[in-house]
Amino acid sequence: MSEVKLEDIVSLCKRRGFIFQGSEIYGGLAGTWDYGPLGVQLKKNIMNLWWKTFVDDREDMFGVDAAILMNQKVWQASGHVDTFTDPVVECSNCKGRFRADHIKGDKCPNCGKDNTLGEPTQFNMMFKTPVGPTWGSAEASDNKIVTGKIEVKTPEGELTQTFNIKEDRPDRNSVMVYDKNSISYLRPETAQGIFTNFKNVVDTFYPDLPFGIAQQGKAFRNEISPRDFIFRSREFEQMEIEYFVNPDTWEEAFETWIKDVESFLSQLGLPKDKISQLEVPESDRAHYSKRTIDFEYEFPIGKEELLGLAYRTDFDLKNIERVAGKNMEYRLKDGSAAFVPHVIEPSFGLERAIMAVLSAAYTEDEVNGEKRTYLKLPNHLAPVKVAVSPLLKNKPELVARAREVYSTLKKEFGNVMWDDNGNIGKRYRRQDEIGTPYCVVIDFDTLEDNTVTIRNRDTTEQERHGIDGLSQKLV
Ligand code: GAP
Repeated sequence: MSEVKLEDIVSLCKRRGFIFQGSEIYGGLAGTWDYGPLGVQLKKNIMNLWWKTFVDDREDMFGVDAAILMNQKVWQASGHVDTFTDPVVECSNCKGRFRADHIKGDKCPNCGKDNTLGEPTQFNMMFKTPVGPTWGSAEASDNKIVTGKIEVKTPEGELTQTFNIKEDRPDRNSVMVYDKNSISYLRPETAQGIFTNFKNVVDTFYPDLPFGIAQQGKAFRNEISPRDFIFRSREFEQMEIEYFVNPDTWEEAFETWIKDVESFLSQLGLPKDKISQLEVPESDRAHYSKRTIDFEYEFPIGKEELLGLAYRTDFDLKNIERVAGKNMEYRLKDGSAAFVPHVIEPSFGLERAIMAVLSAAYTEDEVNGEKRTYLKLPNHLAPVKVAVSPLLKNKPELVARAREVYSTLKKEFGNVMWDDNGNIGKRYRRQDEIGTPYCVVIDFDTLEDNTVTIRNRDTTEQERHGIDGLSQKLV
């Protein structure tokens, strides 16, 4: 177990503008999080690093960005409509609903009563939504509805719809009447947008096998109990690759992917001794997988899944053949064979990567007898690359020179911060806390000899360096 506490990370994220509770101003919405200026930069740095590593720097990878809303047949064919479920139990006393496999014993985790939890039922975690106008909807507080009837106009004419409403909780119910063919789901994984574009990529780019298709984007799961900060959210971001291989070579490709994933995790600055690989037993594997390794990380909440690497076989492409009636075979360039490729899937969750990066970087030490908190982020992930300050903000000649240095560095790096608030010691602490690797200070010597002070976050050491060649020094 890591010594860093989750509360420390949550509090730093809120205090310094990384991550806020979603809709906090209206009391929040469980399982949703908003990224502030520093959080969004950290998130983009991780996403860009992932894209550069797995797409830009390789010759065998193609990127896509598919629509989040997809034809309902995608989710019927993939098995998500039938099997993407978690077990839920309801407490007969407080009416709280909880994920059955997260509960220890017979006590309700909300009201604390014993033996009030009912039998588990399966709850589908996909968010469902009608696409296009609905025929009618009403809230249970509406008198018409408490009677259990709703009258709506459908394209076929007037319709009286009856429904079951729980009389004990009418305030919690509403009904919506829609054409069931209009239903879509917020995607619970980005992977399906890749499978549905497999043929498009093959027909337009004629890639040699093996090759991969990569996608980053939002995924949504109606988690029964979102928890542990961003670790289990209802809206999160995935970075996924479907790597298409000849079925005879899947084992070799799987081993190579283990190494590629390890190498990416080291670029995130995660210590090797906090990462472990769990060979997932068949009983715990997703319905599509013949082999899965969970890469686990020692988060402040304990050892938990960071990402998954799965052998998805030809499950998804064959499902498309079955349901859409389209041929998903890949024909070898020499014409010797045609077959449905098999798939290795490295599936990264961005929120978990952020949580791991922040926990690995969170450090406390003492400088000159004073406690200091800083984020020892790898330089390439830090949301602010360098902060620029005039030593004194009431000396116009220092401010003018500092502004020049700031503009030059900003043009070069983009994520450069102007910081002239408080005394220099306070500025250093503030920048340390958000993980800024360097602070550049313009003082009276600068006006004489054109040098600045560069202060290093980790060592707190300061050195003088000429303004000429400053950007190269900070790379
Ligand atoms: N396409 C395969 C797939 O989606 P998964 O194991 O269900 O596999 C992949 O999810 C990754 O997505 C997980 O390892 C995790 O990093 C992330 N993830 C899944 N559910 C999440 C949630 N509710 N909140 C945050 N991240 C989540």
